[in-house]
Amino acid sequence: MAHLATQKALLLPARAGKWYVGDAPIPRPGPQDVLVKVLAAALNPIDWKLVDSPFTALIPEFPFISGTDGAGIVEDVGLEVTTLQKGDKIVFQGWFSNPYATFQQYCLVPAPVTAKIPEGISFDQAASIPLGLATVVLALWDHNPRTEKSIRLTPPWEEGGLTQYAGKPAFIIGGASSVGQYAIQIAKYQGFSPIITTASPHNAELLKSLGATTVLDRNLPASQILAELPKLTGGKPLEFVYDAISLADTQSLAYEALAPGGSLVIVLPELIPSELKKSSDGKKVANVFGNVQHPECRPCGEELYKRLTVWLEKGIVKPNKVEILPGGLAGIPEGLARLEAFKVSGTKLIARPQETA
Ligand SMILES: NC(=O)c1ccc[n+]([C@@H]2O[C@H](COP(=O)([O-])OP(=O)(O)OC[C@H]3O[C@@H](n4cnc5c(N)ncnc54)[C@H](OP(=O)(O)O)[C@@H]3O)[C@@H](O)[C@H]2O)c1
Repeated sequence: MAHLATQKALLLPARAGKWYVGDAPIPRPGPQDVLVKVLAAALNPIDWKLVDSPFTALIPEFPFISGTDGAGIVEDVGLEVTTLQKGDKIVFQGWFSNPYATFQQYCLVPAPVTAKIPEGISFDQAASIPLGLATVVLALWDHNPRTEKSIRLTPPWEEGGLTQYAGKPAFIIGGASSVGQYAIQIAKYQGFSPIITTASPHNAELLKSLGATTVLDRNLPASQILAELPKLTGGKPLEFVYDAISLADTQSLAYEALAPGGSLVIVLPELIPSELKKSSDGKKVANVFGNVQHPECRPCGEELYKRLTVWLEKGIVKPNKVEILPGGLAGIPEGLARLEAFKVSGTKLIARPQETA
């Protein structure tokens, strides 16, 4: 890489500014990093929220490069990296720091939070996985004693992780979202049953193919959904609810559906009305932070990445459906506008940074 000093990146010049394609330095890997040629980068709601919202606080400097999902080819490795070599095909999660972001042609990633992409999975498909899956895995299985952001189920790599939830019902709100699709698959892997989800009816077959047993129309009134749930669970208590949407109305629905003593995952700041909450009900709520590069999340993240290749080979985790945006990095702003307008359904938008003019 010595001959190439700069690359194309999608840059945000300032808070509330407009994205533009410009030049950025190609970063050099630290001892545990690899330099990746990014062939596919997925778009996520956080990428538009970062521009001008409380999430802007995550931006360390301007101009800023976003992008938290990537797949590509290892171009160079740091001095201490022994697990990867130039030419390996990997999937990985980006971070809120320019050298580690995926909306550019080359970025860095720490080797312990990467996984090789198996045969049969394209770079575009692989890029649909990291943030959505991490948002489920960290919310369920992170046992870091400092974190309040996990409901601490037994992970599948520990005794009982694949047996103790068998036959327990799960309710996943927003099953067609990227996060929701991974929540359904992970709930199935752990043996939860039935797995009830909400989505638009046109996504029902897709979600059943991932493991949902019932797909309720997300436009039904909450009272009707709450009335359906006990019939679908056969009266068993609903001790696990994952709200992959976490708007005010879905958080209320999720909290009301949850059995006393149960655990609810939310993906945005808590909006549950105080009148619904009773300290005596013992309901736990965890607001996840879904990035394996966060120092607190790294140990659980590394456990995930040790297994991801095999989970993809075995079909335990299936990628989202993907739509490729035209124009490389230049196609991202329009894609983000579609995400912001909720005009993307059951699909991950993917940019190919190498196709940037
Ligand atoms: N805390 C974290 O670390 C973290 C990490 C990742 C994402 N998030 C947040 O999680 C949310 C989901 O992210 P994502 O990338 O998974 O989103 P996404 O894939 O863009 O979500 C789009 C889907 O949301 C579904 N949806 C929208 N409103 C719904 C409702 N009221 N009920 C049920 N389904 C609804 C739609 O389903 P239909 O098409 O079936 O109508 C649509 O397919 C975002 O707010 C994101 O910012 C947080």
